[in-house]
Amino acid sequence: MSQPLLALAVKAKDFQTHHVIDNVEFSIDQGQVVSLVGPSGCGKSTLLRIIAGLGSDYQGEVRVKGERPHLHSRDVGFIFQEPRLLPWLTVAENVGFDLGRAGGKHPRVHELLTEVGLADFANAYPKQLSGGMAQRAAIARGLFTQPALLLLDEPFSAVDAFTRMRLQDLLLSITSHHDTTLLMVTHDVNESAYLSDRVVVMASRPGRISGEIEIGLPRPRDRRNLQLTQRAADILNLLNGGQPDSLDFSENPEQSVGCREPLFISRFNFAH
Ligand SMILES: Nc1ncnc2c1ncn2[C@@H]1O[C@H](COP(=O)(O)OP(=O)(O)OP(=O)(O)O)[C@@H](O)[C@H]1O
Ligand SMILES: [Mg+2]
Repeated sequence: MSQPLLALAVKAKDFQTHHVIDNVEFSIDQGQVVSLVGPSGCGKSTLLRIIAGLGSDYQGEVRVKGERPHLHSRDVGFIFQEPRLLPWLTVAENVGFDLGRAGGKHPRVHELLTEVGLADFANAYPKQLSGGMAQRAAIARGLFTQPALLLLDEPFSAVDAFTRMRLQDLLLSITSHHDTTLLMVTHDVNESAYLSDRVVVMASRPGRISGEIEIGLPRPRDRRNLQLTQRAADILNLLNGGQPDSLDFSENPEQSVGCREPLFISRFNFAH
């Protein structure tokens, strides 16, 4: 069997006396989309930082394409909750910044800006963009180095619901075109079910895995599909410390539903 793109086994991660992560193990194969969900403070961002090579002070083994992660690896890209564009650079210069300011002229910048619908804004400055446009620029920047693995930490939580759905579809189409593997942290169980092949659910104090949900539905997906709603309910039950399958929508699994159930599912309280 070929090696997974990401093999993660963090036995322990402590901050001073605070035991933050306990025995978190999972792997991701090339081309998969995996979400990480869990209560605030359970260590999701800490795990992403370890995978990005931003913290090596932990017990365990992490490998991306068989290599230990390091800060300047081109194999791993990172998209944050807020776009983090440099205000004094144009959109194109921000996207190509891995190569310095001149990177804005790289042909791939234009291709990526076209893909995210910002070709006409290459010479604009970040303050001239809406929140959704800025996040699209951040997606283009995250893909500029052609990373095999793209890490996303709550990438759409600062935009409105409609923009969020459009960005989700944009992310899926672009990353499938580039054959990029995704690991995304989100607090939105519907988003995790809609986007992912698998959802890894964490519990806190210390951060650990409480279970995993295989979505197993063909793409493109219908957001109102009843089976998708069932998966989101399974994720929510795991988050709440229960087991999957406790909400049974299976009478007519092909049937789509309106918005009442998904709204209910979104109301999870993520406090400690
Ligand atoms: N640099 C640090 N120094 C000390 N403690 C830290 C540091 N970074 C994170 N922590 C602690 O580690 C725990 C996990 O933090 P982390 O940011 O990974 O959580 P999270 O799951 O991403 O939470 P959220 O959903 O709120 O973003 C928290 O208790 C936090 O206080
Ligand atoms: Mg976080």
